[in-house]
Amino acid sequence: MSKVHNFSAGPCILPQEVLKEASESVINFNNLNLSLIEISHRSKDFIEVMENARSLVKELLNVPEGYQVLFLQGGASLGFLKTAYNFLPKGETAAYINTGAWSTKAIEEANKVGNANVIASSEDKNFNYIPKGFGIPSDTKYLHFTSNNTIFGTQFKRYPVSRIPMICDMSSDIFSQEIEVGKFDMIYAGAQKNMGPAGTTLFIVKESALGKTGNEIPTMLDLQTHIKKESMFNTPPVFPIYVSMLTLQWLKKNGGVPWIQKINEDKANLLYSEIDRNGLFKGVTATEDRSNMNATFVLENEDLKEEFNQMWKDANISGINGHRSVGGYRASMYNALPLESVQALVDVMKEFERTKG
Ligand SMILES: Cc1ncc(COP(=O)(O)O)c(C=O)c1O
Repeated sequence: MSKVHNFSAGPCILPQEVLKEASESVINFNNLNLSLIEISHRSKDFIEVMENARSLVKELLNVPEGYQVLFLQGGASLGFLKTAYNFLPKGETAAYINTGAWSTKAIEEANKVGNANVIASSEDKNFNYIPKGFGIPSDTKYLHFTSNNTIFGTQFKRYPVSRIPMICDMSSDIFSQEIEVGKFDMIYAGAQKNMGPAGTTLFIVKESALGKTGNEIPTMLDLQTHIKKESMFNTPPVFPIYVSMLTLQWLKKNGGVPWIQKINEDKANLLYSEIDRNGLFKGVTATEDRSNMNATFVLENEDLKEEFNQMWKDANISGINGHRSVGGYRASMYNALPLESVQALVDVMKEFERTKG
């Protein structure tokens, strides 16, 4: 079978060796002659998986003392509501930066608990830039933002400097670059980009910041429920957590976050240089805010669409159709995507230029 260059936006490419080991464990896990997905989550073998996954997160991101790492269900989308319930007292206000569809959803959920004050937004230009130079009101409970905007292809290159606690949805760039966890009261991220299959969501939360809202929080939305039960209040999503553990082991073995950050920068530079050089293409977002994870671009001449689409499909490239709200193309370059796949796409773009030139 020839190699497919998988640029899917999520769920997305995972390391081949992780998929292989995961598939073996579905048949026979730890030589138990039982599948990983047919043993108790309270068995010694699975508890070890959960503990390993948690300690790998702490190690790879240098998580400081006082933070808890949780693997929960409900996606980052339920994380929007968990954020509000756990940090926003009913009727009070939190500051939100609106940089796209996911931020908008986070704002809608916060408004179900208290008030989301949108202090900055790039909606005026279809979210093609990251707002800058805004003030952060000191009388709001926290500042929420989305570090990487998967759909529009923008990314915060510098995080806001805030005197109020910060909470960040890092679903589409966690583990792609070094971060300072201590700057945040909470970071959350769906697994299905840089970590594993869909089905679990990572929360890294400062424990001392919880329990202060006075809200009556539904049990499953209360992060303290899950801290007390070490992410096992109910049956955890064993397979996504296991595959996340394998992916984090892969990352650690190869050199950790600094190693992948360099590769991610190289991949992004390679593709954006070609977008800028090649007269047939145009980037969608403000240059200084371009995402290293999701590159959005369009054809200067839409009439050439069918021809270009045929060329990249012939080159075994998959998953670069843009999101319907942006159009054009979106090449997602998550951690497991090798540089050679980006090179394959760049080669097609060059060849396309040659045939048109
Ligand atoms: C930045 C961001 N936030 C939130 C979500 C929603 O995540 P989930 O599907 O896990 O609810 C996504 C999904 O792609 C995303 O990219």
